[in-house]
Amino acid sequence: MVKTKTCVFISGAGSNFFALLKRSNNYNFPIKINLVISDNPRAKGLLIARKMGIPFKIFKTKGLIHEVKILKFLKEKKISLILLAGFMKILSKRFIKKFGKDIINIHPSLLPKFKGLNTYHKVLSNNEVKTGCTIHFVNEKLDSGQIILQKKFYINKKDNVTSLKRKTQRLEHKSYPEAVIKIFRK
Ligand code: GAR
Repeated sequence: MVKTKTCVFISGAGSNFFALLKRSNNYNFPIKINLVISDNPRAKGLLIARKMGIPFKIFKTKGLIHEVKILKFLKEKKISLILLAGFMKILSKRFIKKFGKDIINIHPSLLPKFKGLNTYHKVLSNNEVKTGCTIHFVNEKLDSGQIILQKKFYINKKDNVTSLKRKTQRLEHKSYPEAVIKIFRK
């Protein structure tokens, strides 16, 4: 099977990247992770990339990311799909348009609820009954693109930010690969 050349963008732990990587080793999984890009040289996910032999590149930046350089690099590597997995920078409208192919993101809430940062805190302070994760196409508005897949669970009264994060991420690790399969079934 010809697999789609994919780049995963990370800024932190890279647990979703790792979940995707494990699934992508499966013969029938539609993508191959050819590259990891990070804006953060200290992202723990880069250690996973190094250990697993996945090429990675750091585009270190204080403010805006070097979008022109990134686009050039993606083109050189013939990347046709971007998966954002805990990438904490916002991609510009221009970047999205110039890349011209699918960009997908995972967010730790039931969008359209609780876009942006500090999601677990917002979920808890809003006394939500359920929460979960959303995988969606990226458009020019933050956390607002078309939803591909959403998974939910009930919040326990004893849940705090730590337990909610653990439960949400456990669900994310199953859901992101599932969402990838779903977009290739279209
Ligand atoms: C994930 O939980 C993802 O949903 C979240 O960052 C985490 C990254 O974890 N993304 C966002 O909040 C984007 N707005 P990971 O580095 O272990 O995959």
